[in-house]
Amino acid sequence: MQLDQVKVRASEEISAAKSTKELYTAKLNVQAMLKDVMSGMRNLSKEERPAFGKIVNEFKQKLEEEIAAREAVLKAQELEQKYASERVDVTMPGKKYVEGNLHPITLVRNQLIDIFAGMGFQVFEGPETETEYHNFTALNTSPDHPSRDMQDTFYLTQDLNLLLRTQTSAGQIRVMKNQRPPIKILSPGRVFRPDDDATHSPMFHQMEGLVVDKGITLCDLKGMLEEFASKMFTSATKVRLRPSYFPFTEPSVEVDLSCFVCEGKGCRLCKGTGWIEVLGSGMVNRHVLENCGVDPDEYSGFAFGMGIERIAMLKYGVNNIKNFYENDVRFLKQFKD
Ligand code: DAH
Repeated sequence: MQLDQVKVRASEEISAAKSTKELYTAKLNVQAMLKDVMSGMRNLSKEERPAFGKIVNEFKQKLEEEIAAREAVLKAQELEQKYASERVDVTMPGKKYVEGNLHPITLVRNQLIDIFAGMGFQVFEGPETETEYHNFTALNTSPDHPSRDMQDTFYLTQDLNLLLRTQTSAGQIRVMKNQRPPIKILSPGRVFRPDDDATHSPMFHQMEGLVVDKGITLCDLKGMLEEFASKMFTSATKVRLRPSYFPFTEPSVEVDLSCFVCEGKGCRLCKGTGWIEVLGSGMVNRHVLENCGVDPDEYSGFAFGMGIERIAMLKYGVNNIKNFYENDVRFLKQFKD
């Protein structure tokens, strides 16, 4: 290739390069062309060579300047593009990370477990599908007791042998049949009854407690309830035991707490009475101990059962039990710890 031709082609290649990468290729092509020109020196006479060499060298220098200038332009362009593509709009709204929280029933369940675990209770979770024996018979419930009615219990089989447990008290039987006293257990879980209104749901949660040992009295029960009331509500909360009836306890008591809103003066929550009913309890009926192979002359015990929804409704001022099951985030997110 002639030098004149190379001059034209080299300039074309350099100015046609659209990026530093393309310019690098152009540079290699130009070098190859120059090599070609240099090899033509062989055909020149000795005298002609120095002058030709000088011309080529000057041309080489000019080319290098041209390449450097083009490179500067391309580099600036590329930097400009990079900045444009990486531009961040700091005024755009950020992506919010929504943090969840525990369901209020889980929250109250955990609080209850914490309080009772602090008093040495262990957790036992019984099955939700129970036998008629564990749910009723072993708990000293007579064959004609109204809680056994079809209207009050979800039966699973025609022979009425299997049912959805109506109370966590069924867990008492399973524990006492499996474990020798001393027994100190807490049994939380779902229970089922055909009830449906603002304060009742066909499925709700209970927390059962059972203590069996030598020399257990109603005083132990009251002391434990006072500890529970002050931890769950306020330290000023008082406990009142009212005589009641449950087939599996004798004597049986209904437990009221002094109203933690008005402190006993009377308000809407306690319906002007100053007291709020929170749970059922009593000394374990000797027939129940016998049914489980525990000698009632050697051992005694107390049991209690409370509705977790009821405690949560009281504590957080919720007036419709259905709020717990509708999964409306506007309701649920109010229970962040
Ligand atoms: N099982 C009862 C209910 O569902 C609550 C209850 C009352 C549990 C007295 C007990 C108890 O352990 O001693 O209404």
